Amino acid sequence: MQDIIERLQQKREAARLGGGEARIARHHAAGKLTARERVELLLDEGSFEEWDMFVEHRCSDFGMAEHTVPGDGVVTGYGTVNGRLVFLFSQDFTVFGGSLSEAHAEKICKIMDQAMKVGAPVIGLNDSGGARIQEGVASLGGYAEVFQRNVLASGVIPQISLIMGPCAGGAVYSPAMTDFIFMVEDTSYMFVTGPEVVKTVTHEEVTHEQLGGAKTHSTVSGVADRSFASDVEALLMLRRFVDFLPSSNRDAAPRLSADDPAGRSEPSLDTLVPDNPNKPYDMHELIVKMVDDSDFFELQPNYAKNIIIGFARMQGVSIGIVANQPLVLAGCLDIDSSRKAARFVRFCDAFNIPIVTLVDVPGFMPGTAQEYGGIIKHGAKLLYAYAEATVPKITVITRKAYGGAYDVMASKHLRGDVNLAWPSAEIAVMGPKGAVEIIFREDLADAEKIVQRTEEYRAKFANPFSAGHRGFIDDVISPRSTRERVCRSLSMLRGKHLENPWRKHGNIPL
Ligand code: HXC
Repeated sequence: MQDIIERLQQKREAARLGGGEARIARHHAAGKLTARERVELLLDEGSFEEWDMFVEHRCSDFGMAEHTVPGDGVVTGYGTVNGRLVFLFSQDFTVFGGSLSEAHAEKICKIMDQAMKVGAPVIGLNDSGGARIQEGVASLGGYAEVFQRNVLASGVIPQISLIMGPCAGGAVYSPAMTDFIFMVEDTSYMFVTGPEVVKTVTHEEVTHEQLGGAKTHSTVSGVADRSFASDVEALLMLRRFVDFLPSSNRDAAPRLSADDPAGRSEPSLDTLVPDNPNKPYDMHELIVKMVDDSDFFELQPNYAKNIIIGFARMQGVSIGIVANQPLVLAGCLDIDSSRKAARFVRFCDAFNIPIVTLVDVPGFMPGTAQEYGGIIKHGAKLLYAYAEATVPKITVITRKAYGGAYDVMASKHLRGDVNLAWPSAEIAVMGPKGAVEIIFREDLADAEKIVQRTEEYRAKFANPFSAGHRGFIDDVISPRSTRERVCRSLSMLRGKHLENPWRKHGNIPL
């Protein structure tokens, strides 16, 4: 008995030491925390229950039989974040470069399976050199087992990936199928093929950072939802982020206690929209003045900035916000913004999070780049996502809602539950100038007549009443009362129940 206890202690110590002191020192010198330090920081103190600390790989090729480390390069288990259960795995780069063996994959699959059974999020802290080269196809099989679980868990439990080191080759496809990807600046990268292969195939010369660093993925590709300056910042922000999410699709959006009064009036919003309809303003101002305690967790803030997405709370309940941003490309919808918002809307819908949509959209972005890039299919993603969503949908039109983009942005016709407009709203097929140039083409030479026609069109359509007459908006509200009206609408919608017709699955235009 004593012998077993001693061996147990030795194994625990070996597991805790991972790849050994020298490798840990190198890891620290690179500005990274170890796998275990990361777990400690992410979870509530003392809440971590570790599983499979004694698992070892089964490979005997290339001298691997003599080279085993208990835990096999990944720390797995469960614990709590601000009191709520999460499952997690944390890859240990000091053990075989965090590479994924068959046994390592089995550990990850085990906690994913358990998370599905109990309905709790899975958080992956990724820091890995990819497939364990010594294991060959056994490792590839391990990846595929994880991929399959990512797909089956999608829409059932939230899945979050934090990339804290290398993530390359086919390994990127597990994070890619999770709901959110966060990256640590300077120490993490993701790519399907590395700089050497890129150079051979396309003759491009790029660094790891340029090809797949946090900056690239949070500004150019849109693969990452946020990037953070360090491991510590990333883990602390992740703790904050988890608070917005329900544990599974069986749960309602989480509710925290709220001190911010629902009826708080914001008189400054009355002058947010400039008199000149072509002048931009920052939609963030409305968001932070509307939500509880100005607490807005924005996602993809530096990608497709013409649309804003993120989580906030109203009366303590999580909501998803989608908002056109007039400051960038006049807030129009293009390929990137449509894809960005569509995926977010689908996440909210899958996880019972009400969606508040703030609209100031002059239409879809024109041009060959957009048409050749497939704006038809990409724009349809957002339309599809909104039309499919059955969660509470509240829409506030602050200014422009033109053309197809009016329809897309959670309009009444797409089962918007509460559609409100500010007095500055202009709901029409297009802006007055463009409309007059088409329908009064014969008057184009007569500048005075065009001005007059434009004014006529503006008077008729550049206001909320035309849509109001038809019930396409439910009310015209004063901007200062937006928070109160949205809070009331959310309360009214708390018991909403709506189901789409049965089907195996729809066919979103991918
Ligand atoms: C086994 C690995 C490993 C791997 C790294 N190591 N990657 N062991 N399998 N895939 C080991 C190293 O041998 C080394 O061991 C330790 O981890 C640290 O690696 P270094 O190279 O010293 O670290 P660094 O200089 O920081 O470089 C990190 C790295 C590099 C860029 C990740 O190690 C690398 O390029 N690794 C190979 C990546 C790769 O080709 N993976 C397979 C991709 S294919 P010691 O004992 O010296 O500490 C793939 C397919 C997935 O992943 C398909 C899924 C469908």
